[in-house]
Amino acid sequence: MYDTMNFIDKNYEPKDSDLVCLFRIEPSEKISLEKAAANVAKESSVGTWTHIGTVNERAERIKARVFDINEPYAKIAYPKELFELDNVPQILSSIAGNIFGMKLLKNLRFEDVRFPPELLEKHRGPQVGLENIRKLFEVEKRPLLGTIVKPKLGLGSKSHAEVAYRAWKGGLDIVKDDENLSSMAFNTFERRVDETMHLKEKAEKETGEHKEYMGNITAPVSEMKRRADYLIGKGSNYVMIDIVTTGWSALQDMREYLEGKDIVIHCHRAGHAAFTRNKKHGMSMLTVAKFTRLIGGDQLHIGTAGVGKMEGDEDKVLRIQEAVESRSENEGEIKLAQNWKDIKKTAAVASGGLHPGDIPKLIGRMGKNIVAQFGGGCHGHPDGTEPGARAIRQACDAVLEGQDLEKYAEKNTELKDALNKWC
Ligand code: 3PG
Ligand code: 3PG
Ligand code: MG
Repeated sequence: MYDTMNFIDKNYEPKDSDLVCLFRIEPSEKISLEKAAANVAKESSVGTWTHIGTVNERAERIKARVFDINEPYAKIAYPKELFELDNVPQILSSIAGNIFGMKLLKNLRFEDVRFPPELLEKHRGPQVGLENIRKLFEVEKRPLLGTIVKPKLGLGSKSHAEVAYRAWKGGLDIVKDDENLSSMAFNTFERRVDETMHLKEKAEKETGEHKEYMGNITAPVSEMKRRADYLIGKGSNYVMIDIVTTGWSALQDMREYLEGKDIVIHCHRAGHAAFTRNKKHGMSMLTVAKFTRLIGGDQLHIGTAGVGKMEGDEDKVLRIQEAVESRSENEGEIKLAQNWKDIKKTAAVASGGLHPGDIPKLIGRMGKNIVAQFGGGCHGHPDGTEPGARAIRQACDAVLEGQDLEKYAEKNTELKDALNKWC
């Protein structure tokens, strides 16, 4: 019957077609973990706080079920009929909706998710994906290296383009706008794109390397489409979107809009920590990352694995990297294993407070399949952007050649100056 505790069924074997969630649950005082978990399943699927007379046979059949409790964690299976499978906002209004505000929970964290194959089929995933991004640059053996033009805001479009040019010239592959740079009175989107794409071409000719510019199109969706078209019209292969502030619907819409155009969507996660940072409450960055890959983000900021300026423990960041860059995962007690089938891989982006001295640890932990970005750690070089870029490339070469950074710096003055400043 439609009783709260009926939302627990420890004998239930989740079906392949179920969506499964892993929650960390801290009940309020005098509430048992069982009761709290049952209420999470109830509120996030078909139920409400009291007995109701309107429940039909379908609601009973498609309700969510708590099938595993391993304090403080609970796994809940959701039949696919609960979802409009191609509608991420609807899915999240269910499994990441009212439940976070329930009084009978002290804390609730949505830790992990597994999507059923029927749901994967309704989404495109990354259009270009990690492997093709590497092909675009023809860079196979090392991480892709990039910078963020600094200061975040303040430069006019011409100065912005010049800083970008110096970074490319110094050896970086990618230059991106910062998360809060869109179209400012002193640096409009169109002028910035014109100037920056022009100098990108010059840098490519002079270095013989492939370069990319990630213009930030963050805006209301209709404007994002216009700005994406503008970038594409100027020959760019990339757009950058702040996916938390623009929202899941925006990312879905933009992915659909860009279908067939072979454009890389670079996803910046500014704002995620408002709900991912608290280890007891909210949603994990891992979950954010899985939804981003599902919808079709080609590159996603996932953290820097214990180095750099942003919080995010090494093991957590590596778990996220596994989720975005692997084909299938292993199941664990507090881990859900996703098989991604035909969904392409999202490239992990490490960015935030990195400098050349961090590169050995960064590559040691995250490997070469990353886009490593250096803002202050490039433009803050004592001699400026171009030597800063060179120092980054030198540090990367040293690691790949298996050489000690300090030793390598003896013959590479840009790296030496960088290490003197930051190490
Ligand atoms: C809401 O969407 O605000 C809730 O579903 C409220 O429903 P309830 O009154 O049954 O709690
Ligand atoms: C980013 O958008 O990733 C940051 O601007 C990184 O900048 P930083 O390297 O100066 O921290
Ligand atoms: Mg930034």
